[in-house]
Amino acid sequence: MTPQYAHLLDRTVRYHEAGSGRAVILLHAFPLSADQWLPQLHRVPPGWRMIAPDVRGFRGIGQAYQDIGLDTATMATHAADVLALMNHLDLDRAVVGGLSMGGYVALAVARVAARRLDGLVLADTKAVADTEAGRAARDAMIALVSEQGPEAVADRMLPGLTGETTQREQPELAGALKALVMKNTTEAIASAVRAMKLREDATGWLPSIACPTLVICGAEDTLTPPAESEAMASAIPDATLVLLPGAGHLSNLEAPMAFTEALTRFLSRIS
Ligand code: MLT
Repeated sequence: MTPQYAHLLDRTVRYHEAGSGRAVILLHAFPLSADQWLPQLHRVPPGWRMIAPDVRGFRGIGQAYQDIGLDTATMATHAADVLALMNHLDLDRAVVGGLSMGGYVALAVARVAARRLDGLVLADTKAVADTEAGRAARDAMIALVSEQGPEAVADRMLPGLTGETTQREQPELAGALKALVMKNTTEAIASAVRAMKLREDATGWLPSIACPTLVICGAEDTLTPPAESEAMASAIPDATLVLLPGAGHLSNLEAPMAFTEALTRFLSRIS
């Protein structure tokens, strides 16, 4: 799929787009890129237009490209980036969804721009902030990428990114994921880790989410386990919970058909 580029006032955003109709924006996990959503973009349901941007810093628009503002980016920055892209594309409203880090961004969008959401998709993510131990692990990850680069991050993260069924039955996915991680720069990775470390706890305001929400998670996800999804789904008034058997953390890539079917069913309910 050929990527598109949105030339905003201060930066350029790469995104994939497919389909036509009402908009669904899909935000990727750490430390991947918009390419994570290609399986869904190849099967967009009729009446919908799927848009998957790179989160600020990720993949960029070419080898030489370095995004701006990476030192200070927070989830609020990433949420503002989503809204800026929506404005650029003339989209007043959209369904906004994300997987893991993308889910943190989607929650941040829901917090500041609830009026613009037709729906919310929270995939393999969680509402709670990092614990003290989690924050220390973030610092260790920043040190790792600064000293050894993206490949070391890929090697550290890969075993946890997919479930045991995928590791057994789709071993080739590991190589594809590593290639995706390694397209990113040290600066992008460190920036995203800092933003995740600083993110606020969203648990308290989940009950105020008014739009239909799909909470979806791989049953074998060990990074953001199904219990996190169950907790979010019980706190959000109009939530539907779907657990995908045989999938781990990157459920949309590990079980692409089942993920797309669940997403399509959810979208068909949105009036
Ligand atoms: C992700 O998949 O985006 C990350 O694992 C999320 C996190 O580290 O909190």
